[in-house]
Amino acid sequence: MAFNPTPKQLTLIKSLVFFLALLPFVRMAWLVFQGVPVEPLEFLTRGTGDWTLYFLCITLAVTPLRRLSGWNWVIKLRRMLGLYAFFYALLHFVTFFWFDHFFDIAGMLKDVVRRPFITVGFIAFVLLIPLAVTSTNAMVKRLGGKRWLWLHRLIYVIAPLGILHFWWMKAGKNDFQEPIIFGAIVALLLAMRVYWSYVKKTGAARA
Ligand code: HEM
Repeated sequence: MAFNPTPKQLTLIKSLVFFLALLPFVRMAWLVFQGVPVEPLEFLTRGTGDWTLYFLCITLAVTPLRRLSGWNWVIKLRRMLGLYAFFYALLHFVTFFWFDHFFDIAGMLKDVVRRPFITVGFIAFVLLIPLAVTSTNAMVKRLGGKRWLWLHRLIYVIAPLGILHFWWMKAGKNDFQEPIIFGAIVALLLAMRVYWSYVKKTGAARA
């Protein structure tokens, strides 16, 4: 039988996920504060970039996990996980804007336009903003369920853009191993949705 937590257990799971998701940030901040990384800027840009990608993948994995396991309650974690993807993307962007450009907007935008892998990352980040802003219950009501759902499908564009950004960055070093792994994970998670939507449509057409 599928595990179905009581409201109390669900609150506990949510708190646990919240603190676990915050740990990478606490660890990175602690190490930088201690002066451990030789190149703190690189350490922070890479660490926050990695965690943005991990949380995008984890958020995309919620629906497949729910469908395959029957754990309908995991959907209640999705908003928090998505907001963590935005949180790490924001840190990633701020690290770049602060340490690479010392908050010089014109210089930062020039860099965004000049380096294609950064252009792609920037587009992915900008697309994440409306999702974060409309993540509250009040915004779901204001937009209406259907419009909200359509808007949040932007995640299907954002995740591949994140992969492209990562791929492009690693291409400069001829190192494709990790982009291939993450590209395959995102492709699988998206392909499952396409398959289920196809089955639903053909099933509905037959009924
Ligand atoms: C959804 C948005 C984004 C995702 C998923 C993402 C992900 C990543 C990942 C995985 C890396 C490689 C980390 C590693 O080497 O292990 C990276 C590197 C990098 N990202 Fe992003 N990124 C995003 C947005 C951005 C934005 C908005 C900017 C700046 C405008 C940016 C600038 C960079 C830079 C400069 C690096 C290279 C760091 C280095 O060479 O040391 N990224 N990103």
